Amino acid sequence: MNILGIETSCDETSVALLTDGIIVASRTYTQEVHTLYGGVVPEVASRAHLDKIEPLCKQVLAEAGISLSDINLVAVTDSPGLAGALLVGVGFALGLHVGWGIPITGINHLEGHLYSAFLEYPELSYPFLSLAVSGGHTAIYKVNAYGSYQCLGKTVDDAAGEAFDKIGKMLGFAYPAGRAIEEAAQSADSDPAIVFPIAKMKSGSLNFSFSGLKTAVRYYLNGKDPVFIKEHRGALCKAFQHAVLSALVNNCKTAMQETGITTMTLVGGVACNGALRKALSAACPGKVYYPSPRLCTDNAAMIARAGYECFLNNKQRLPKMDPNADI
Ligand code: KG4
Ligand code: ZN
Repeated sequence: MNILGIETSCDETSVALLTDGIIVASRTYTQEVHTLYGGVVPEVASRAHLDKIEPLCKQVLAEAGISLSDINLVAVTDSPGLAGALLVGVGFALGLHVGWGIPITGINHLEGHLYSAFLEYPELSYPFLSLAVSGGHTAIYKVNAYGSYQCLGKTVDDAAGEAFDKIGKMLGFAYPAGRAIEEAAQSADSDPAIVFPIAKMKSGSLNFSFSGLKTAVRYYLNGKDPVFIKEHRGALCKAFQHAVLSALVNNCKTAMQETGITTMTLVGGVACNGALRKALSAACPGKVYYPSPRLCTDNAAMIARAGYECFLNNKQRLPKMDPNADI
């Protein structure tokens, strides 16, 4: 069973070929051009996807040593994401479907992140909890089976990765700033004078809020000398990261207590963060599965893996282009 995965929902153009759920070839092009603007520019992203999608597809097929006629299913991200960016991947996939008669299915990007864990941990069994943390989403899901996901809590404003990127910008890091903040925090001592708040949500809620934290950092930096900020950048990163990670881990702990489920996955770009991996593992009485970093950030292998599950459950559907869809 050969599945071609295609992912173009944001600023990664990615194509992968999976055989029976196992990665045979995978290529991801990260559009670094957005660093110039401090964030993703949708029109620039769409044009870069257009340039890259076909060559990447050819490279993946060559590396896998198969031709289009060997492909049994094309799985393409059709929601959520940037409309113009999604359109490039969906248009390309539909071209393969119509021109070559290859069966197709649309895949929800978040579902792709949830299934990224199965690429390296096929032994993962239902039910499990998943903390999905990326630049666009932050939520805890109870995953009961393919297609049965219960959102236990999600961000009411910024996503965790978005908070990393925005605070990074304030501190002079290039976009995306998550990794740079983690590295700066790692090599710094904490400063007891720099403490940022963890948002308190309504009692019983497992939602998150990161916009207050962003404002707190902004107020803290207001009027501070640039030399002072430079000297304290590591401690600022440490305090900020601590506040984000505490919110994430605290809610996961509650979710585990409330559901009695102690198998967790940690997925999405922010799941690359080593301090988060360590803190969540320490808080989990069971086991936390986290994919390798290249499978945490956006990639087509996870889309193809969700496509495989979709095929096994006979739930293929035509791509629907829904930029604002939830899971
Ligand atoms: O999953 P992803 O590639 O794209 C979305 O679907 O949003 O996630 C990208 C996000 C960015 O916000 C980036 O700053 C963050 O993941 N990120 C990190 C780390 N590596 C990437 N955040 C914290 N620590 C990291 N090491
Ligand atoms: Zn993503």
